[in-house]
Amino acid sequence: MDERGTGWRPMQWTGDALILLDQTLLPREERYLECRTTAEVAAAIREMRIRGAPAIGIAAVAGLALALRGSASTGGDWKQVLDDATRLLESTRPTAVDLFHGLKRARERVVDVAEAEEAARVLSQFVVELLERQWQIDQAIAEHGAGLLPRGVRVLTHCNTGALGTGAYGTALGIVRRAYELGHLTHVWVTETRPRLQGARLTTWELRRLAIPHTMIVDGAAAWLMARGEIEAVVVGADRVAANGDVANKVGTLALAVAADRFRIPFYVAAPLSSFDPGAPEGSAIPIEERDPAEVLRLGEAWIGSAETPVWNPAFDVTPGSLITALVTECGVVPSPDRAKIVALLRASSTAGEVGVRETERDER
Ligand code: MRU
Repeated sequence: MDERGTGWRPMQWTGDALILLDQTLLPREERYLECRTTAEVAAAIREMRIRGAPAIGIAAVAGLALALRGSASTGGDWKQVLDDATRLLESTRPTAVDLFHGLKRARERVVDVAEAEEAARVLSQFVVELLERQWQIDQAIAEHGAGLLPRGVRVLTHCNTGALGTGAYGTALGIVRRAYELGHLTHVWVTETRPRLQGARLTTWELRRLAIPHTMIVDGAAAWLMARGEIEAVVVGADRVAANGDVANKVGTLALAVAADRFRIPFYVAAPLSSFDPGAPEGSAIPIEERDPAEVLRLGEAWIGSAETPVWNPAFDVTPGSLITALVTECGVVPSPDRAKIVALLRASSTAGEVGVRETERDER
C-alpha cells in the first residue's frame, strides 16, 4: 500500500532498480516490472510501460543512475558510460521535454564529480528527490487548478494525467482529485484516447480506485457532449509548453480545445515547469512523435484493419495558446498564456529557486 493512500505505487526507486507498474497491462493485470539496467529503463519508456511526461522524466534519470551504478562496479570510463546512456534515453520518446530536462539536470549534478561511485550515489539521491518533489509539484497544481473550478463542476479530461503519469498525485487528474475532495466536482467524463487508450485503460482505473464518479466516451463524442451542455470545464495535461504558450499534448487535445472554444467552455492545461520548453519559440518547433501504424490498426490483439492500410499515427498534437483559458503550474495560474507571461513565470520561478527550467535553457547537448 502506498503511504500516501493511493493504494498503488506507479514508480519506486530502490537504489539498484526502478520498479514500475507496467501500464501496458492495465487494467487487466497489475504487474510490476523491475528495471535494473539503462537498456531496460529505455525499453520501458519506449514501449510505454511507463508513460506521461513527468513520469518518463524521472524514469530517465533513474536510467542514468543505473548506468553509473553498473559502471562503478565494472570500472572503465564512467563519463563515456554516462554519455552513451544519455543518448540511449534521449532516443526513447521525442515530445515530452521533461525527459530531456531530467537528463540535463542529472548530468549537471555530476559534472564536477571525480569517481563513478560518488556519481552513482549523487544520481540515486537525485531520483529520490525528484520522486518526492513531484508530490509537491502535483499538489500545488491540484490546489491552483481546483480553485478555478465552479461548485458542482463536471469536467472532461483526455489521456491519463494521474498518478500513473507523474509517479505522484497527478497533474490534470490531480486537479480533478482535489476538486472532488473539496466537494466541488460532481462528474468526470473520460475520453477513451485512441489509439493507446490511456483514458479507457488508465484514467478509468485510477478514478475507480479513487471512487470518483466518471463516464467514458469515445473520442468522437466529446463535441456532442459539449453541445448538450454536459460539461463546465476541460482539464488536460501537457508534454511540452512552447515559449508562446502553445501546448503539445496527447493527440486529440487540439480537437477538444477547438470544440471547447466553440461552446465557450473553459479549457485548462495543467503543466509542471518541467514541461516548459523556452527553447521552442512556438508549437511548430516541438517534435511530434509518430508511432507504429499497428497501434491504430490493432485493438488489443485484434486487427481492426488490414495490415496494408496506410496509417498516420501522431502520438501528440499542438494546441495554440490562444485556445487555452489558462495554464496551471505549481507556481500559479497563467490565464490566456502568451510569450510575455511565460517569460515572467519562468523568471519568477527561477528567482524563487523552483526546480523547473530556466528562461534561457535550451537542449544544447
Ligand atoms: O503518450 P503518453 O501516454 O505518454 O502521453 C501522455 C500525455 O499526453 C499526458 O497528457 C502528459 O504527458 C501529461 S501526464 C501528467
